[in-house]
Amino acid sequence: MQVTDYAFFPTRVVTIQFPDTGPLDAELCDLLERRPELDDRSNLHPDALNLLRLADTVPAIEQLRSMFITGAKHWLETEGIAGPDGIDLLLFSNRMGRGEATIAHNHNTDLIGIYYAQTADSNRQPIQPADDEDYFEAGDGVLVLHDPRFNANLTSVCHRDHIKVFPRPGLMLIFPAYVWHSVTPHRGEFHRLSFAMNFTLRWPAGAEEQHSLK
Ligand SMILES: [Fe+2]
Repeated sequence: MQVTDYAFFPTRVVTIQFPDTGPLDAELCDLLERRPELDDRSNLHPDALNLLRLADTVPAIEQLRSMFITGAKHWLETEGIAGPDGIDLLLFSNRMGRGEATIAHNHNTDLIGIYYAQTADSNRQPIQPADDEDYFEAGDGVLVLHDPRFNANLTSVCHRDHIKVFPRPGLMLIFPAYVWHSVTPHRGEFHRLSFAMNFTLRWPAGAEEQHSLK
């Protein structure tokens, strides 16, 4: 008898806990406090406001850009992907008041990065496997990553159909843009502040010319 076990189609999620981000997080919170019009949580399109336009004048945004690139490089390296010519970047914030939540969505790009500048306190590990968690327990501003396998939750012998992320300041996640994710209601009186980066990989041009649609 020959038994072979496979785990096909795993999804790579990279987390980085950056140290000593207190001053950076304070600057980012202050920026959005002074200029709340910069916040655009549903900014998923490349022609919408890109906070990277501020990188030349706001050092915290430039620092954040550099940290996101570090994260993307880790993800590409661990996934064994080499060869992109470059990466197009789109940065936007998600500033949540008390009671606000984000419904399940994905992003129209290649990779997503999320960075947390201000969150509820948590003594949990950042990543909580589904085996240890009740899917319907909302928590406080918890990020839920949904299993990208369509209807994976219907396989009743398998409980691993979601992952909960208990965010904290300084934490970054990088994951494929096809992963549906949502945020449970924020319960604090302060603004919960996170930043999202859309990474769109640019590849060397092929032999054929590109055709304009205009
Ligand atoms: Fe998102």
